Amino acid sequence: MTDTIDISINKVNQSNIGTLDVHNIPFAKIYSDHMFEADYRDGEWKNFRIVPYQNISISPANNTLHYAITVFEGMKAYKNDAGEVLLFRPEANAKRLNISAERMCIPELPEELFMEALTTLIKLDSQWVPSVPGTSLYIRPFIFATDEYIGIRPSDTFKFMIITCPVGAYYSAPVNVKIETKFSRAMPGGTGFAKAGGNYAASLYPAKLAKAQGFDQLIWTDAETHEYIEESGTMNVMFIIDNTIITAPASGTILKGITRDSVLTLARDWGMKVEERKVTVKEVVEAAKNGTLQEAFGVGTAATIAHIARIGFEDEVYDLGPIEEREFSNKVLFELDRIKTGKAEDKFNWMLKV
Ligand code: COI
Repeated sequence: MTDTIDISINKVNQSNIGTLDVHNIPFAKIYSDHMFEADYRDGEWKNFRIVPYQNISISPANNTLHYAITVFEGMKAYKNDAGEVLLFRPEANAKRLNISAERMCIPELPEELFMEALTTLIKLDSQWVPSVPGTSLYIRPFIFATDEYIGIRPSDTFKFMIITCPVGAYYSAPVNVKIETKFSRAMPGGTGFAKAGGNYAASLYPAKLAKAQGFDQLIWTDAETHEYIEESGTMNVMFIIDNTIITAPASGTILKGITRDSVLTLARDWGMKVEERKVTVKEVVEAAKNGTLQEAFGVGTAATIAHIARIGFEDEVYDLGPIEEREFSNKVLFELDRIKTGKAEDKFNWMLKV
């Protein structure tokens, strides 16, 4: 049960927009003026409000601080040439948030509430949506448990919030990735498919070790055999071999990326061969070694399309071909950008004008 969606709005006295240099936006350092908040109490979502972006106060016994009972989404808003704000596939984020929530014993958030909160907030802070090419407004909806209780049990109370920040590129250059075969991100029956905070916390240590070896990110492999490619720490991954896009199926251990789905939809529409199947480490490493790995790239909301420049596996590194010669990943990056900014036909009905 949810109250009617009546959102109170308390605006900032003075906007912080003056601190933003749209030509030099660091990722997630400057937050927009307002945020959305709702509380879950007595079995229902209530107290829908937009307030100035600010710190929140929680008990030191807050159960999320101790047990990571939290799920989140990542999405983006863009401006078209007329200055109107467009959201990319927001309904898909609303649905995925609930898929993640169920796994973490977090109550369902009605999709109408998600959409109303999102559109009201983005309308209010529309001046924060940048229009310089390569920039966007990153939107972070999240839910976390708020019981003041450090025993282990599902929480009775929660908070849903949305914060936003203008962003440029997540990766400012093509990335070097290491195929990880010691640590694991997810196992069958675990939480790999959910956008749960703990998945990211657990990835930090292996990623830190890889960073010390000169890599930007890991490519995770399956926990049982380490023979199959899964995803990267910040994005799904795709390869092109024999003019065919291959990517791991979005199974229980892999996040069902919305950018992943968008890229595969465009590829199929363009007549490309696409295989969603188990991808072996062996075939990718062999192809990288013998020069038949035509393209390798990450796909994600924050990362968009991140070209992979180098792949590390065991003690070897393999440099892949020149970025400018990568036909598909360059084309799909360009086309997605045109769709998101209203320059290309929205054939799949992905964009929502707010
Ligand atoms: C996103 O792409 O939106 C994510 O949530 C990934 C995160 C590492 C920024």
